[in-house]
Amino acid sequence: MEPVLRWLAIFILLSSLLPYIHAIYCEEDDCYDLLGVTQSANASEIKKAYYKLSLKYHPDKNPDPESRKLFVKIANAYEILKDEATREQYDYAIAHPEEVFYNAARYYHAYYGHKTDPRAVLVGLLLILSAFQYLNQWTRYTQAISMVKRTPAYKNRLRALELERSGGITNKKKASKHINKKVEEELSNELELQIQGAEKPCLWNLIVVWFILLPYTLGKLIFWKGSWIWRYTIYKSAYSWEDACYLTQRSLRVPQEAWRTLDESKKNDLVGRRLWVKSNMEAYLTELRKEVKRRR
Ligand SMILES: *[C@@H]1O[C@H](CO)[C@@H](O)[C@H](O)[C@H]1NC(C)=O
Repeated sequence: MEPVLRWLAIFILLSSLLPYIHAIYCEEDDCYDLLGVTQSANASEIKKAYYKLSLKYHPDKNPDPESRKLFVKIANAYEILKDEATREQYDYAIAHPEEVFYNAARYYHAYYGHKTDPRAVLVGLLLILSAFQYLNQWTRYTQAISMVKRTPAYKNRLRALELERSGGITNKKKASKHINKKVEEELSNELELQIQGAEKPCLWNLIVVWFILLPYTLGKLIFWKGSWIWRYTIYKSAYSWEDACYLTQRSLRVPQEAWRTLDESKKNDLVGRRLWVKSNMEAYLTELRKEVKRRR
C-alpha cells in the first residue's frame, strides 16, 4: 500500500473516533440549561426541575418528535447531574473545555466503564488490533518489495525481460518506455509472488477473522479428533489413505507442500512402511543410513 493510503487509513481510523470525543455529556447543550437550573443548584432542586420537565415533555402527552427528543435530552442531563461524581466531572469539563481527550475519557469511563458489554470491548479491541496488523503487514510487504527492486538481480532480470520482449530493439525510446512499464509491472507481479517472509497482506490472516472463525476451527478440530479416535482407537479400522499420508508426513516431519510434490510411487512406498510405528521408523532410518554409506 502506498504511504498515502496508509495515512488515509489512519486518518479514517482516527476520525471514526472523533464523534466519541464530542458526543459526551449533553453534547452541544448545557446540562444545567436543559433542566433550567443554575450550576449552583442543589440535588433536590435538580430533582424537582427534572420531574417537572419530564412531565411536561413526556411522549405520552407530546407525540411530536421534537419534544420526544427534548425528553430524551432532559433525561440524559438528569442522569449526569443527579450523580455526585459525574456532576463533578461535568463541572470540570465545563471549566476545562480544552482537555478534550481527558474529558472524553472520563465520560466514557463513568458511563460505560462499569456497564460495557465485555463482548463489545473485545470486538473493538480485535478490530483495532486487526487494523494495525493490516497496516503493519502492508508496510512490511512494501518494504520487502522495494528492497528487492533495488537489487541488481532484479534490475538484470528486468533488462533481460525487456530485451526479450522488444526483440533486442531498445533504442526506440518511446516504444521501450511503453514496454518498460508493462514489463516492469509483470515482473514485479511475478516477483511479489516469490518474496517469502513478506506475504501479501491477507484479510483471512487478521486476528479478528481468526477469532470469528475460532468456533468453526475448534469444532472442526474436535470433530476430526473425535472421528479419529472412533475409527482408529475404538473401531481399530485400517487407516484411510489420507490419514496414513498424514501420519507418514508427521513422522517424517515433511511439510505439507513438500509432501504434495512427491511422486505417487514414493508416497506409496513411504506410506506402506507404516512409519508412524516407532520400530518401523527406526528400521527405515537404519536403512537410509546404510544406503548413504554404500553410496560413499
Ligand atoms: C436546596 O435549595 C433549596 C432552595 O435554595 C432549599 O430550599 C433546600 O432546602 C435545599 N436543599 C438541600 C438538601 O440543601
